[in-house]
Amino acid sequence: MALLDAKIESPQELFVHKLGAALTMEETILEMLEKLQEEANDPSLRRQLEQHYKETQGQVQNLQQVFDALGEPVDRRPCPVIEGLEKEGDTMLKEVDESLNDSVILSGVIETEHHEIAVYDGLIIMAEQMGDDDVIALLNENIEQEAATLEKAIKATEQLAKRVVRQTA
Ligand SMILES: [Fe+2]
Repeated sequence: MALLDAKIESPQELFVHKLGAALTMEETILEMLEKLQEEANDPSLRRQLEQHYKETQGQVQNLQQVFDALGEPVDRRPCPVIEGLEKEGDTMLKEVDESLNDSVILSGVIETEHHEIAVYDGLIIMAEQMGDDDVIALLNENIEQEAATLEKAIKATEQLAKRVVRQTA
C-alpha cells in the first residue's frame, strides 16, 4: 500500500536507499572488526579478522564508487540489522568466559556474512534490472569477498569445535 507522503518513489531511489544502508552496514562492520581483533584469542583468527578489515575498507570504496557511477551523492541510510548484530556480539562477549571468545566471534562473523550476502544479492538483482555493468561488477567483487569470508569462518568454526571436543573428552 502506497503512503501519500512516500519519500522513495522509483526503483532507482529504492536502490540508492539500499546502497546507503549497505554503506552504513560496511562502515559499522569496520568498527566491529577492529574491536573483535582485540578480543580474539587465536592468532590465526586475529589475522583473518585483520584481512577482512582491509577487504572491508575496499568494499566501502566500492560502494562509494557505485554512488559515483549512478551520479548520486554518497548518502548513508540506517541499517538496524547490523546494529542488532553488533549489540548481540558485544553482549555475548561480556557474558562468556574469555576462553569462549573465538566461538562467539566466529558465530558472529557467520551471521554477519550471511546478512551481507543477502544485502548484496538484493542489490545485484536490482542492478541487473538497471543494466549498469560497472555497478554490477563492483557489487560482485564485494559479494565474492563475503562468500569467501563466510566459507573461511565456517571452516574455522568446525576446527574450533573439534579442538573443544578433544579438550573436554
Ligand atoms: Fe563486508
